[in-house]
Amino acid sequence: VSLKPYNSFGFDVSARYFALLDSAEQLGDVRDFVQQHNMPVLFIGGGSNLVLTADLDQLVVVNRIQGMQITPGQDGELLVTAGGGQDWHGFVRWCLEQGAYGLENLSLIPGTVGAAPVQNIGAYGVEIKDRMVGLEAFDLETGQQVYFATAECQFDYRDSIFKSRFPGRYLITSVTFALSSEFNPVLHYGGIAQQLEARNMTEIEPIQLSDLICEVRNSKLPQPELLGNAGSFFKNPVIPEQQAEQLQKDFPQMVVFADKPGYCKLAAGWLIDQLGWKGRREGGAGVYEKQALVLVNHGSATGAEIVELAGAIQADVYKQFGVMLEIEPRCYP
Ligand code: EPU
Repeated sequence: VSLKPYNSFGFDVSARYFALLDSAEQLGDVRDFVQQHNMPVLFIGGGSNLVLTADLDQLVVVNRIQGMQITPGQDGELLVTAGGGQDWHGFVRWCLEQGAYGLENLSLIPGTVGAAPVQNIGAYGVEIKDRMVGLEAFDLETGQQVYFATAECQFDYRDSIFKSRFPGRYLITSVTFALSSEFNPVLHYGGIAQQLEARNMTEIEPIQLSDLICEVRNSKLPQPELLGNAGSFFKNPVIPEQQAEQLQKDFPQMVVFADKPGYCKLAAGWLIDQLGWKGRREGGAGVYEKQALVLVNHGSATGAEIVELAGAIQADVYKQFGVMLEIEPRCYP
């Protein structure tokens, strides 16, 4: 089966075995199959954080589990649960329509609800871990349905237990969020604060904020349907404060954010941009012209070519700044 429709880079690689999963009940069969064949399985949501570099001699399961429901809690809290296969942005907009607020800043992030916790998606000052209560997952090893409270997921910057420690073990069947009937917008992030000021807006409605986020994203990030990509291809590197101070002496324009105590986060996009990579192309693989952090498939690129381009960028950034960029999406096989 060709995986071209199932990965946002649009790489035309194939999977030896393939299944669309509509309900958690089918997971028992998936487990039997992989145990019988003694083969690994790759769970995919929207395929928007994935670099497929060659044909996969294994089973690929696409999570399509649907469903969204709201339960009122105490003090205006709204508990919202969605199926893992639900489209993320559709879910965010549905919450807004229901008067459940808190996910506005995460509008238009590609992918699914079930994939969102895997890398703790985040944008414009909000991360999913800030809004999540817990999730249900199927454990391929034990065949059990298990619950993870947010504190058990070891969330970090674009990271969780599901991405780093147990890749391939759990399929996330549903996720529950604690949202609010009260609208408390998060507006401090640079790009957003700027936009509000430029428009002379002192107040904003929930839908307006979501629309604004969509506008900002669309102005910087390519739409996967039009130009294959996986969002930010590198994490913003976190380095010791001292190293950051030294770099700032050498490069006064460098973009540096405070991070956990003793550490700073650099804007990887800035580092790559400085070295002139923005808009560059190597065959079908390229660096997006409006955002140096995003690698794109101009149509004919393979996953291997994208990884090769990423390697050249990593080497160049390391040579110039002494900082090793870490690749953000998952690469298979
Ligand atoms: N910058 C440049 N040149 C570039 C790109 C960025 O100089 O080509 C500078 C910007 O001017 C800015 C700084 O770098 O001063 C940061 O840029 P921006 O605010 O656009 O955010 P980012 O660091 O590039 C991160 C996330 C995005 C998220 C935005 C907004 C990561 C790896 N990326 O990008 O997340 O949408 O912040 O919160 O943390 C993703 O993970 O796939 C993703 C798109």
